[in-house]
Amino acid sequence: MKIAIYPGSFDPITNGHLDIIERATTIFDKVFVAIAQNTAKDPLFTVEERLRLIKKSTNKNKNVEAEHFTGLLVEYAVSKKAHAIIRGLRAVSDFEYEFQMALMNRNLREDVETVFLMPNEKYTYLNSSIIKEIARHGGDVSNFVPEVVNNHLRQKFENNNF
Ligand code: PNS
Repeated sequence: MKIAIYPGSFDPITNGHLDIIERATTIFDKVFVAIAQNTAKDPLFTVEERLRLIKKSTNKNKNVEAEHFTGLLVEYAVSKKAHAIIRGLRAVSDFEYEFQMALMNRNLREDVETVFLMPNEKYTYLNSSIIKEIARHGGDVSNFVPEVVNNHLRQKFENNNF
């Protein structure tokens, strides 16, 4: 049983993330989509909201589970007996940060490997921040996120003055 962790902030999950998850499940038997704390970010959605959105967006794929963890990613990966950490690489601009993280994680735990997957090119310019920015100003993001996320974004920005 080959297990992978796909960690991230997922604030919120996008079609680009789903593309990576689909690809990961063709290589691994089980993929844990894991919401982690990125101390550099101030999330719009609570962990519970993000978890719910991931679960609703991936519920057709029985090999995918969504979880939240605290602490170091490598420790979580070891606790799940994971063979790899999955990260999506969209463009060269992602590379430096991802390279640094992968090597630091290897430094922390030599036995945890990072595997990079490239999404379909139609998602290379997509990220959660840009989605939130468009939705905040009333723009249409329905082509870029699952329906449940689109509805949730609309609700969030209708009810609050961000
Ligand atoms: O989607 P993001 O915000 O780019 O994901 C970054 C994330 C959450 C994977 C990274 O911040 C992380 O692994 N956080 C958990 C704490 C940790 O292990 N930090 C050291 C990474 S070298």
